[in-house]
Amino acid sequence: MSNRRNAFIYTISIFAMICLYNSFPSAYGQKNEQMNAKDLFEYHCVTCHGGDGKGTKRGQALKAPNLSDANWQASRKDEEILNSIINGKNKMPRWSDKLKEEEIQSLARYVRRLAPQKRP
Ligand code: HEC
Repeated sequence: MSNRRNAFIYTISIFAMICLYNSFPSAYGQKNEQMNAKDLFEYHCVTCHGGDGKGTKRGQALKAPNLSDANWQASRKDEEILNSIINGKNKMPRWSDKLKEEEIQSLARYVRRLAPQKRP
């Protein structure tokens, strides 16, 4: 009787360990690397800029521009956008200590994709 019980506990423990082991890499390692620009933006930037770049209440209170506005887009060079994300600007936080260079670059490209799409 107690043998069967031990075997049962043993099986459950193995199963639990496998589940735990499998959940780690996806939660920490691999997933971060696979995060694309949209995920990064949604994770770090939408609190102020909103999913569409127009700016949340909080962002607007801090004077975040409407990133989806064509005039704003035209007023900034790629390097300026990149530089602002790397070093911050006024109330905009700097991201160089939190994000990798290639993540920042893909975010800068993502900001361009918030512009109104010209349909031919
Ligand atoms: C705490 C709120 C906040 C967060 C979070 C935030 N921003 Fe900003 N962002 C601002 C504010 C405020 C400005 C306006 C800065 C200014 O021109 O004074 C701004 C400006 C910008 C600009 C325009 C810079 C320029 O040159 O005019 C870009 C691009 C930008 N943010 C991208 C991002 C990206 C990408 C993220 C996420 C990695 C992010 N922001 C996260 C508040 C925020």
